[in-house]
Amino acid sequence: DLYQEKHRPQFHFSAKKGWLNDPNGLVYYKGEYHLFFQHNPYGLHWGNMHWGHAVSTDLVHWRELEIALFPDHRGTMFSGSAIVDISNSSGLGTLENPPLLLFYTCAEGTWEQGIAYSLDGRTFQKISEVAIPKIVPGNRDPKVIWHEESKKWILTLYVTEEHEQHAVYFFNSDDLRNWKQISTIRGGRGEDKYLYECPEFYQLKSDSGMAETKWVLSAVDGSYAIGDFDGMMFKPDFERLRGNYGRGYYAAQVFNNTPNDIRIEIGWRHTHTAVDGMTFNQSMSIPMELSMGKRGDMLFVRRNPIAELTQLRKKKHTWQKQIFNSAMNNPFREISFGELEIDIDLLPQDKSLFEINMYGILLSYDQNTEQLRVDGVVNTIPLIDGRLKLHLFIDRVGVEIFAQDGEFYIPINKNTNSHSERLSLKVLNGKVICKKLDVYELSSIW
Ligand code: FRU
Repeated sequence: DLYQEKHRPQFHFSAKKGWLNDPNGLVYYKGEYHLFFQHNPYGLHWGNMHWGHAVSTDLVHWRELEIALFPDHRGTMFSGSAIVDISNSSGLGTLENPPLLLFYTCAEGTWEQGIAYSLDGRTFQKISEVAIPKIVPGNRDPKVIWHEESKKWILTLYVTEEHEQHAVYFFNSDDLRNWKQISTIRGGRGEDKYLYECPEFYQLKSDSGMAETKWVLSAVDGSYAIGDFDGMMFKPDFERLRGNYGRGYYAAQVFNNTPNDIRIEIGWRHTHTAVDGMTFNQSMSIPMELSMGKRGDMLFVRRNPIAELTQLRKKKHTWQKQIFNSAMNNPFREISFGELEIDIDLLPQDKSLFEINMYGILLSYDQNTEQLRVDGVVNTIPLIDGRLKLHLFIDRVGVEIFAQDGEFYIPINKNTNSHSERLSLKVLNGKVICKKLDVYELSSIW
């Protein structure tokens, strides 16, 4: 049955049928969160790009709707963004009924940036003019935001200039229809990954009581820069930071127009779902709340699962204030349910080395080297005040790991097998003081 298939993620969004890649047009409009996505409705692999469409009232349960944008005489529909034109500056709606605008790339055809609008969040009308005419064939992925200080709309666009020079062009507008280029950021070639596809640009408040607000410019693989923006130019303070310590996480986008102005991100996870007769392929990440952390003088972006996900918790298994060592039995031996959230707070002792098997995905932490290994991906994760905090979300397509309160986001895409593999925790060396270990079985969102 639909949504019950062997490799169907149970609490991550995936398309009913066909291929999916980048999230597009993430926006809150008239009481609903909208998730559009790069979609091939005709096959299991990339091609024929359309914008698929789904809605949710809680960011957790999604309902897939009709396709929003079909290819046309200008090309196929590549990635882009959506905004709510509250003041009806575009004239495409009214003040009482503000329009939702979609900005997308007309790809493999005219390579222009097109505009579509909707007054009901269900049907979409393309307008005949384009937001930005062709620059070079490599320009794509328009992201539009409102900039309060300059009272302008800002559009960032990825452009591949001559000799494979990656650049992000900044534009502004009063009416969302006429755009003027205001600045350009260029990097070296290849290396400056935060100037690559799907530029994402947003303002972020600090999470530690500092009154600081900064701007983040990030690219398709999650690399980013933090700096300032005066309405015209982005000036990075910290460049080439890493937003993704795992594998196969791309093209993340942040919701526009969210209540309370919080930053929520969803990205594409390159999962391995085109196997065993599945009729869909690929999946999104869970929604994550972004905040700005500080370590020493360095600012960085933290990712944490949104609080709304706690509603999926069903049965809870818990361990507290005890010591795990190599003599113990597997504490997880009673658990065989496939979809899990695990919240761990540990104090590794005596050069401890331990291992968690998540239905075929192996994680280990070695206190000696401070290395966290997951399915061959190795990261150095220093203990903080002697503590290691891990927050794991295990679904059929893999695991998302949030380490040290979201300082490290480690998505690993590998299909789990809860029928033939066990969940286990083993201490191979030293011991581990367990302050908290909670395992929740999670209900399906479908
Ligand atoms: C990133 C990307 C975008 C493009 C889209 C096409 O994954 O290559 O640059 O708009 O995918 O599907």
